[in-house]
Amino acid sequence: MTRRDAPQTPSVADTVPLATPVLRGNEWKYVKECLETNWVSSVGPFVERFEAAVAAYVGRRFAVATATGTAALHVALAAAGIGVDDEVLVSTLTFIAPANAVRYVGAWPRFVDAEPRYAQMDVGRVVEFLESRCRWQDGRLVDPDTGRRIRAVMPVHVLGHPVDLDPLLAVARKFDLAVIEDAAESLGARYRSRAVGADGDLACLSFNGNKVITSGGGGMVLTDDPARAERLRYLTTQAKDDPLEYVHYAVGFNYRLTNIQAAIGMAQMERLEAHLDAKRELAQRYAAMLGNVPGLSLPEEAPWAQSSSWLYTIQVEAGRFGRDSRGVIKALNAAGVAARPLWQPLHRSPAHAGSPTLGGEVAERLNRDAVSLPSSVDLTIESQQRVVEGVLGSRLKD
Ligand SMILES: Cc1ncc(COP(=O)(O)O)c(C=O)c1O
Repeated sequence: MTRRDAPQTPSVADTVPLATPVLRGNEWKYVKECLETNWVSSVGPFVERFEAAVAAYVGRRFAVATATGTAALHVALAAAGIGVDDEVLVSTLTFIAPANAVRYVGAWPRFVDAEPRYAQMDVGRVVEFLESRCRWQDGRLVDPDTGRRIRAVMPVHVLGHPVDLDPLLAVARKFDLAVIEDAAESLGARYRSRAVGADGDLACLSFNGNKVITSGGGGMVLTDDPARAERLRYLTTQAKDDPLEYVHYAVGFNYRLTNIQAAIGMAQMERLEAHLDAKRELAQRYAAMLGNVPGLSLPEEAPWAQSSSWLYTIQVEAGRFGRDSRGVIKALNAAGVAARPLWQPLHRSPAHAGSPTLGGEVAERLNRDAVSLPSSVDLTIESQQRVVEGVLGSRLKD
């Protein structure tokens, strides 16, 4: 290749991003209201309004806003009483935050493979493991491989699609395990007739900038249990035991969301349905444009699910398509289109080396073949065509 025909690096303005926020509602108005009223910090009317709006949308009694989704996961585990040397069953194919949160409370993850069709936690494996391999010892459910007490299951609804919850909830009830849903990527999705986030003892959300709605940064824990909700408020506000004197009976955290962030979150909440419609439309357009391409598999929606289509992720079978997933990503990036693989399965993560796993081969294959494509709410048809041309054209490039 000569210098003259070397590919030009596209400018940032030309780049099609992966998932950027769209702030076209009352964000300015509500933030201005915070500044004018001086309610800028970690209490204020928007925090309460945002919590009430999300709780009502998902159908939960209580919502406690947090500084990040990761903080939400951390305090949810703490509020569920998960502690040192407990074990928690966690999806292996996910962003790392839920497994990290398990370590924050001194517990250990035991990873669970994904099922191949929807890339979600393989609930069948959880049931089989609990029913056939674990044993009760002095009233504690024990993992036969680690000798640790299993206390909770953490299903992560990845990419906007729900985990098959009913069999998981049933087995968790049978073995007295807490269910802590990580719904960070799936606000607005539905499992059967229920909103995702409505089922676990606790459910966690993220409002990071790449999510369906954002508060700049932020998270929330949802629950129907008043004692847990109170504990969550206590832990997220430095565990204050006396309104005046600085008395603390527990080690708390400064995890509250600010009123300014909640103001943005509230304005975004008003746009949630519009964002979901846009996400689902762009998923349908991708399906129409990329369907029937040999070697590409498109995301599927289970008959019992309605996905939020948070991040459109295809699978590339290198032999049939003519290029592997990393080659497609490289070609797209060179053409100014943001594209990414899925997360390294956590049973392979050096950060969690030594944590046991139930399978993992499916997650490894999904990781090997996945390409996440631009999925911003305001992605134009022209940009989407550019993405598709980039994917199809990647077969022809060196
Ligand atoms: C599945 C999942 N859980 C947790 C998080 C953490 O949320 P945050 O970035 O708000 O801490 C994210 C992403 O950001 C996520 O994708």
